[in-house]
Order: sequence, then structure tokens, then C-alpha cells
Amino acid sequence: MIDLPKVQTLKPKPQPRNFFIWGSPMTGKSYFASYFPNPLVLNTDGNSEQGSAPSIQIRNIRGENGALKQSAIKQLDDIITALQVENPKRSADQQFKTIVIDVIDDICVMIEQAICLDAGVQALSDIPYGKGYAMFNTALQQFVMDLKALPMNVIYISRELSITDDNTGVTTYEPSLKTKYYNIVNGNCDVVIRTKKIGDGQNASYLREVKALRTMYNPANITDHRILQLLESCSGMFKKEDLEKLQQKKESK
Ligand SMILES: Nc1ncnc2c1ncn2[C@@H]1O[C@H](COP(=O)(O)OP(=O)(O)OP(=O)(O)O)[C@@H](O)[C@H]1O
Ligand SMILES: [Mg+2]
Repeated sequence: MIDLPKVQTLKPKPQPRNFFIWGSPMTGKSYFASYFPNPLVLNTDGNSEQGSAPSIQIRNIRGENGALKQSAIKQLDDIITALQVENPKRSADQQFKTIVIDVIDDICVMIEQAICLDAGVQALSDIPYGKGYAMFNTALQQFVMDLKALPMNVIYISRELSITDDNTGVTTYEPSLKTKYYNIVNGNCDVVIRTKKIGDGQNASYLREVKALRTMYNPANITDHRILQLLESCSGMFKKEDLEKLQQKKESK
């Protein structure tokens, strides 16, 4: 029989584990993610050789007959299994502690493509009774939930979309991930960060601003020193008083 929990008020010490980073090209998304502890990058755009973190290229590979030889869905599944089973068996310094999805937009397209190729159709809508869309949602949701269940930090990277209102001429910026996918992914994220670059070439400075927070995080609760440092570099992450308190505590030690 199941043991129900006691009725009581809990005092959680929340720490963010799932991050969503978006921004226009070359604003430091991959760069920022690569500084998280022991990262493994699931790369889609083929520019992983330029990064300093170990990476796996995700792709659908077709055989000679045009049928799917390697499915991105299967590949992602195998990686998650390896992270569940093999990763904990490694020595502490060889264990991955962060998984970076660079970029999630492409992963969504690849999942869609894999389903279509498998079914021998051009688009999800060609699969009758909305089954194509249902299969897609299940695959994406499964992927996001599996990642969340891993004892690791998860970082989703997305590109930026700028939309200019024809009437007012006002431009707004948002993640390029389609809204319905964004909701699936972001329902499982704790912090949303936008990266920005100001200035050009050698004079560029890289900014990070927090766009959404699951709860108010206290820097004193963040146990990993490196993550604390990284988050401190994002404007709007912590309350100023909390940071000052932490600083005073450090100094008094
Ligand atoms: N905080 C930073 N300080 C110094 N250099 C930085 C910083 N952030 C990024 N850079 C430099 O900017 C360049 C582009 O960064 P990065 O590759 O992370 O961009 P990106 O947003 O991932 O771009 P893309 O969307 O094209 O993948 C890199 O060469 C990196 O060295
Ligand atoms: Mg990048």
C-alpha cells in the first residue's frame, strides 16, 4: 500500500536545474552553456567542432533506398539510456553533469522528419486521423521528461525570432521555437535566459538577462559554486539583498 505524506508545511530550498537559453546568432548561447559543470552537447548545426565541450551530432540518416537508416528519435533514446545506465558507473570526474540541447528547434524538426520518413509521407498532416501530430507530441514530451528525470542540469538552446508590427513599427523578440513546442519544453524549465551582444568585433560585450523564473531563487541555496557564478552573471537572477547577504557571509568567514 502507498504511504501518504504527512500534512505539513515544507520549506524547500529550490535550485534551478532546467534552463532555456535563447538569443540571436553569435550572442554567446553555446559559450555560456559550455561553462556549466561537465557538459555533454547534443549538437544539430554541425558547428560543434568549434566548441570546447564534448558533443554528439544528432541527425537522421537515410539509406540508399531513401528509408531511414538512423533515426534521430532512436539516437536520442539511446543517449538517454546511456546517461541513465552508463554515466553513474563512471568515475566522478568522468561523469557528465550537464546536458545541452543545441538547438532544440532543430531537434523538433528532426523528430518530425523521422516520423514522416518512417511513415513514408511528406508531412505530419499526411498521416491520417491526426496520428502524426500525436506521435510527434508523444516523442517530444517523452524526450523532455526523460531529460528532466536525469540527475543532471539540462540546457535547451533556441534561436531568436524578431517580429515587427506593421502598424506600430515596434519590433519584439521571442524564441524561434514554435509556441506549442515552447510550451512543452518550457513547462519543464526553471529559468529562461536571453543572450544579447552589444558592440561589434573586439569591442563586443555579451549580456545575459533572465526573462522568466519558476520561483525566487536564493543564491545561498545554490550548492554548486560554478553554477552560482554563472547565474550571478545573468541580470535579474537574484535579489540584490540576497547577493549582498551572501557576500557579507563570505567575508565574515
Ligand atoms: N561572455 C563572453 N565573453 C567573451 N566572448 C564570448 C562570450 N560569449 C560569447 N563569446 C564569443 O562569441 C562567439 C560566439 O558565441 P557562441 O558560439 O556561444 O554564440 P551562439 O549564440 O551559440 O551562436 P549560434 O547561434 O550561431 O550558435 C564565440 O566565439 C565566443 O568566443
Ligand atoms: Mg551556438
